[in-house]
Amino acid sequence: MDDSTLPCQHGIRLRPLPPQMTLRLAENSKDRDRQLAQIRQSLGSRSVVLIGLMGAGKTAVGRRLANWLDLPFTDADGEIEAAAGQSIKEIFAEHGEAYFREGERKVIARLLDGGPQVLATGGGAYMNPQTRAAIKAKGLSIWLKADLRVLLKRVGRRDNRPLLSVDDPEAVMKKLMAERNPIYAEADITVESREVPHEVVVGTVVDALADKLGCDTMPSRKPRRKKVHR
Ligand code: S3P
Repeated sequence: MDDSTLPCQHGIRLRPLPPQMTLRLAENSKDRDRQLAQIRQSLGSRSVVLIGLMGAGKTAVGRRLANWLDLPFTDADGEIEAAAGQSIKEIFAEHGEAYFREGERKVIARLLDGGPQVLATGGGAYMNPQTRAAIKAKGLSIWLKADLRVLLKRVGRRDNRPLLSVDDPEAVMKKLMAERNPIYAEADITVESREVPHEVVVGTVVDALADKLGCDTMPSRKPRRKKVHR
């Protein structure tokens, strides 16, 4: 048996990293911790608000981002459901979309007073001018931008979105993209939500936040030129 390896799960043995590499990883993680602390400090009481279409990954990325930043995570749709005592599907079916939108506006206005936090909003929330203004005043908005194929693949996994419970969800999604993307583009930051592990997108979001807030960027990364963070 080669004694330079370490026992690991499932009986696999791993060779330890060379000391210089271990040091590099530790330094990187210290840099990351410092960067995250700076972001938290620069945010003050502002919330990081995730916007974008259904299937963009707002909840999945938001939950992880909150964890990285050590901030509470709030899901606006979940709060609307709790306030109404009904699922979004039921609210749409019983009261209609206009009623849902009014509830959405009120709930998000209330939530924005509870920063700092990471707040994931429903896809239509940012279309409301009052909500947009409130987010601008009390938050930093991040548009998670994904292409049609990625969005359709993700939303196809669940049947909880009334707007897509139609014969041709692709046509609806295309229409929503055409209507909403120009408005989402007003966000403070745009990050491409690609088909990569969510943690990768979170890393890109954190770097984009650091850029925007003038905090340290990770030294291992080259400075970015483009405004859209990939
Ligand atoms: C909607 C998006 C949904 C939810 C509701 C309406 C929209 O949230 O708020 O079904 O208008 O785009 P997600 O974006 O979290 O799916």
